[in-house]
Amino acid sequence: MIRMTLDEIATITGGRLVNADPALIVSGPVEYDSRAPMPQGLFVAFEGENVDGHDYAATAIAAGAAAVLGTRDTGQPGVVVEEQLAALAKLAHEVVGRLPELTVVGLTGSSGKTTTKDYIGQLLARLGETVAPAGSPNNELGFPCTVLKATPETRFLVLEMGARGIGHIAYLAGIAAPRIGAVLNIGAAHIGEFGSKEGTAQAKGELVESLPADGVAVLNADDPLVAAMASRTAARVVLAGESEASTVRAEHVTLDSRGRAAYELVTGSGSAPVQLAVTGRHQVSNTLVAAAIALDAGMPVAAVAEALGEVGIRSSRRMDVVERADGVTLIDDSYNANPSSTAAALRALTAMGAGGRTIAVLGYMAELGDQEVAGHEEVGRLAAELGVHRLVAVAEAAAVLDGAAGVPEWKGESIAAADQAEAILAVTGDLRPGDVVLVKGSRYRTWKVADALRAGTVTGEVSP
Ligand SMILES: Nc1ncnc2c1ncn2[C@@H]1O[C@H](COP(=O)(O)OP(=O)(O)OP(=O)(O)O)[C@@H](O)[C@H]1O
Ligand SMILES: [Mg+2]
Repeated sequence: MIRMTLDEIATITGGRLVNADPALIVSGPVEYDSRAPMPQGLFVAFEGENVDGHDYAATAIAAGAAAVLGTRDTGQPGVVVEEQLAALAKLAHEVVGRLPELTVVGLTGSSGKTTTKDYIGQLLARLGETVAPAGSPNNELGFPCTVLKATPETRFLVLEMGARGIGHIAYLAGIAAPRIGAVLNIGAAHIGEFGSKEGTAQAKGELVESLPADGVAVLNADDPLVAAMASRTAARVVLAGESEASTVRAEHVTLDSRGRAAYELVTGSGSAPVQLAVTGRHQVSNTLVAAAIALDAGMPVAAVAEALGEVGIRSSRRMDVVERADGVTLIDDSYNANPSSTAAALRALTAMGAGGRTIAVLGYMAELGDQEVAGHEEVGRLAAELGVHRLVAVAEAAAVLDGAAGVPEWKGESIAAADQAEAILAVTGDLRPGDVVLVKGSRYRTWKVADALRAGTVTGEVSP
């Protein structure tokens, strides 16, 4: 965090300074895990379900933290506030206000926020110091904590913005208002909470509504619900996509045998060829959004194209391609799943598996609400239409197999695995060189399968 006295922190958060000299300096990281290193930093104590962070205040101070922010006096130097998240929000807001040189980039969408945030971070880092930490810190806790990583040297702060309801993104934008805001897509993710894709669009569009008139809204031109957000912003609109309407456009898209896309990046300031090292057709739209932001930040088109060729996966279990020494390829896309991201992953699987066998291990997709059965059937149907050779549905994902069974031409094998251990057996028994295995599901539901297949890795090579 930028350098502040504890007294300033107390004033900003509306808290009460305890056990400390008001002039005590806080200049290190803000952390809520007492095990994280935080020399001169601020330890935020939360009351968890099982542990109370306040009990670790002394440990954090002994390990180098300057002070504690919590809701009660721990006997350590600190600030006592009414509620931690509101205090973090106020602190983060103040920090952004003190960094006039900073360009704040906000990103939302149903699928690919973390992936694309990592790409944007890798591009902008070529222009100046950039804060875009790996992982998915996109909520009322992770978001302000990311903001608080900005320093006077930071030029770009790239923020993932998540929404589980109306008003969530507006709240985050109130903490740190982006000047550049990008919306990737509107899919069925979290549809259980939004009710419909239109409801999701309403919530995600709060990002472009928050942009200033001198800001930039980067919108995916190929997603009608995203393109329609142009009418909801005062900012200049840049359309990114493959359609004619896009000012940052991909033309002549091709996929190689490893599922990596190449395209001609066409912009108002010239064109350049792009060859991606990351896997999946869906990376075209993700990288176009990243390109539009880098171009706006002043990177020349040739440099953008070259940098896009070098972007890699920074956050784990997202289209992570592992080439095993035995000739088997694992696509670990098990971080999370919804019907659109599963469709993207299945297409990558079949692009990569041309010539060999393709095996899809699909786990339950959470948060689909009344779309649950239909969503699982839809991906099963697509797997069958794409000609996946073996489809393994893990535990509550069984409806996937019903969807596949609805495609009469499909000659593939259908396996219902009661749990991850059964799924592992269903995959590992007869693997041979050339096989490509996709593992995907919501959160932990297929992680053991992915890890078991990874453990079979002899080279441990991860590409790119
Ligand atoms: N443009 C896209 N369209 C569809 N699926 C995508 C797209 N980009 C990434 N994915 C896939 O979506 C899944 C989630 O990716 P990622 O973690 O980047 O998304 P997210 O929006 O940050 O998700 P979360 O809501 O969990 O934070 C991964 O499996 C990824 O491969
Ligand atoms: Mg994310």
